[in-house]
Amino acid sequence: MIFTHYLNGANSNVTIQALIHRRYDEMSSDIKAIGVLTSGGDAPGMNAALRAVVRKALTNNVKVKGIKRGYMGLLNEEIIDMEAHSVSDIIQKGGTILGTARCLEFKDPNIQEMAAQICRKHGIDGLVVIGGDGSYRGAQGLARHGINTVGVPGTIDLDIACTEYTIGFDTAINTAMEAIDKVRDTSSSHERCSIIEVMGRHAGYIALWTGVATGAEDILIPEKYTFDEQQLINNIIRSRKKGKTHHLIINAEGIGHSTSMARRIEAATGIETRATILGYLQRGGNPTCKDRYYASIMGAYAADILCDGKSNRVVAYKHGSFIDYDIEEALNMQKDIDEYQYDISMKMSR
Ligand code: ADP
Ligand code: F6P
Repeated sequence: MIFTHYLNGANSNVTIQALIHRRYDEMSSDIKAIGVLTSGGDAPGMNAALRAVVRKALTNNVKVKGIKRGYMGLLNEEIIDMEAHSVSDIIQKGGTILGTARCLEFKDPNIQEMAAQICRKHGIDGLVVIGGDGSYRGAQGLARHGINTVGVPGTIDLDIACTEYTIGFDTAINTAMEAIDKVRDTSSSHERCSIIEVMGRHAGYIALWTGVATGAEDILIPEKYTFDEQQLINNIIRSRKKGKTHHLIINAEGIGHSTSMARRIEAATGIETRATILGYLQRGGNPTCKDRYYASIMGAYAADILCDGKSNRVVAYKHGSFIDYDIEEALNMQKDIDEYQYDISMKMSR
């Protein structure tokens, strides 16, 4: 795997090996201390990323301050010194030991200015923000007010356009997959239709991946759903006529209404239909190996570029490399469900 480290934009790529061989005190940055916070929905692997940020920054002779409860905690000055041992025994834990919060007032530039002043007051020269694209906008706001920021993609939804990986997705899909397998047993035994609702308010990645991985007959995702329930009913009747004992429908949260959908399907088909909403159990739990590994590399990478004086960047994983983008550029990127993969998901269980 190639680790590419973009220092000053596309023309000045430096391999991570070159960075490793550079002494941090040779670098031009005046960064003495950085902060780190987790923001938005928690995701398994955030702790692994936090651990990597702390340990890598300390290796670079830069102090680290942990900020509790996201941007809310920053405004309330809930700031603690972090040492290497502060992040002991957390790599395997779900959630985030720093806590997280939604803080809507952070959209206000005056509040961002206040937060930047708080950072300066506490000697925080730069901030790693572990969260989703909402959290990136907060980081961008802080950067506009003179605080160096780097974002790390932390969300189970995989809905950040600039990166092919987000921290927590792998754990969430494996948790959901195991749960769906269990529902399938009951569904087959009782010859029922089962609608299983998975998370993803705006994005269907969890539904798509778990639907394919569990052999679901129908996968409903907000990016593609046509609200043609009759087609769904026809599919169920067709599969029953073919002798299938179950019919699994994976429904993304963004479409929702699984319980009323089940009632309508049962009335139309005469087949017993049940809804199961998996909910927050998909967001918790011990991170998978993949989430721990990627989170560790991304956290360390974020610490490195922040210690190097970079700002307004986000870490991403693309085509086998860990890279970083300007936040503005990253937020302007679009991500769509791959047509070919979606087409396959529609055909495999028919
Ligand atoms: P995520 O980071 O997972 O996308 P949210 O969208 O809830 O989750 O954003 C997390 C937090 O980031 C919000 O509670 C808020 O504090 C901050 N945030 C979200 N959007 C903005 C914005 N447009 N400007 C500044 N800060 C924002
Ligand atoms: O973490 C992402 C996510 O799980 C979305 O799929 C969902 O819409 C959202 O969080 C719900 O989070 P909360 O209920 O904590 O606002």
